[in-house]
Amino acid sequence: MAELIIEGCRRLDGSIKVQGAKNSALPILAATILCKDQSVLHNCPCLSDVDVSIKILRYLGCMVNRDGDTLLVDSDTVNNSEIPQNLMREMRSSIIFLGAILSRVNKAKLSFPGGCELGPRPIDLHLKALAQMGVAIEENHGVLECHAPDGLHGAKIALSFPSVGATENIMLAAVCAKGTTVITNVAREPEISDLADFLNACGGRVSGAGESTIFIDGVDTLTGAQHCIIPDRIVAATYISAVAISGGRLFLKQIIPSHLGGVISVFEDAGCSFDFKPDGVMVYAPYRLLPVKLIRTMPYPGFPTDAQAPVMAMCTKARGTTIFVENIFESRYKHVDELSRLGAKINVQGKVAIVEGVKRLSGACVEAQDLRGGAGLVVAGLGAEGTTHINGLKYIERGYEDIDVYLSSIGANIKKL
Ligand code: EPZ
Repeated sequence: MAELIIEGCRRLDGSIKVQGAKNSALPILAATILCKDQSVLHNCPCLSDVDVSIKILRYLGCMVNRDGDTLLVDSDTVNNSEIPQNLMREMRSSIIFLGAILSRVNKAKLSFPGGCELGPRPIDLHLKALAQMGVAIEENHGVLECHAPDGLHGAKIALSFPSVGATENIMLAAVCAKGTTVITNVAREPEISDLADFLNACGGRVSGAGESTIFIDGVDTLTGAQHCIIPDRIVAATYISAVAISGGRLFLKQIIPSHLGGVISVFEDAGCSFDFKPDGVMVYAPYRLLPVKLIRTMPYPGFPTDAQAPVMAMCTKARGTTIFVENIFESRYKHVDELSRLGAKINVQGKVAIVEGVKRLSGACVEAQDLRGGAGLVVAGLGAEGTTHINGLKYIERGYEDIDVYLSSIGANIKKL
């Protein structure tokens, strides 16, 4: 399996243009199914999760072509309502296609997305909401069969948790449904607003995205549109963590400062400083990081769960103790054992991880177990003396474009084998 080799403890200094957001590209790619003609998506990152989404679109009958970071999707010839098990297994978040397929052809068949590295990934909120919109759902031996014989209709949906995926699935099911849909307690992540912007550009009538209630008036059809995907705030937070642990500085191009609200204060508490410019932000790291007393992962605009592992890696060398509370996923500490192999001192008690900063980390062979945990190992490897081998690069490539190239461009000694 491909691996990364890092010679750590080099000061990083340079600039990086942040890639398009994976978690915005995926639901927007699903949304193209609703358009009976061509959509053009700019700033679409080159990631394995995007590649799987393209395979699913082609399987459903769409024509998809990539021209650099621009994707052309023509969904006029959608002729299938089923996602095969192998593609569902390749990417758990392909459940996001359910609402779009139902909206387009009033039926869908896909295998139940099993759990993943982060623990069980239930979809009860998705299914409960779709049932309220007129979908009959059967689950037989792990296969979900959904039918909406009379088409989808609007509903008043109260989410018991602001689930990102459920919010997106409901938006995709509601945008061409008969009547109005009101969704309360929705996810407020920037990726939700980006999806709403794309749907409205296609002729949809979605309002309230970014707030806690979304209103959707169903329209008859959507026509393809041009759209530029927002920058990836989690990738930005990861590169800030990398520079922070290395005591360097970094100019991050084309980020949207308001999307980093939940993390900037954490990096400032750790001793980093930020200089916001019109086209990006300059980040300065201190010689040695201060501990961040308490970091609790929360739905947006709180501290994002996806940034927990990279920021934890950064905190392993802080001058003191940082406490993490992981409130979103039930097992998102798989990177802790691997960080400990590099010399980190971390004690996990259920949702709580207590990170006691150490003066130095030393290189070792470690194994990525999931996407963001793998990114955390890269951050720690950059701060470790000697050589770190990171196995499981396939996890990291799900969400990070050419991480070795980007980090080498700012002075890291990192190679992909
Ligand atoms: C999205 O996953 C992201 N993935 C995740 O990013 C991110 O960690 C997560 O939102 C939270 O921000 C994509 O956008 C493709 P949720 P999603 O539904 O939609 C529970 C990454 O690293 N839940 O907000 O699956 C669920 O078990 C990935 O890029 C239910 O109980 O997240 C979890 O504990 C990892 N029932 C919590 O809610 C449901 O029906 C948050 O899940 C749905 C969710």
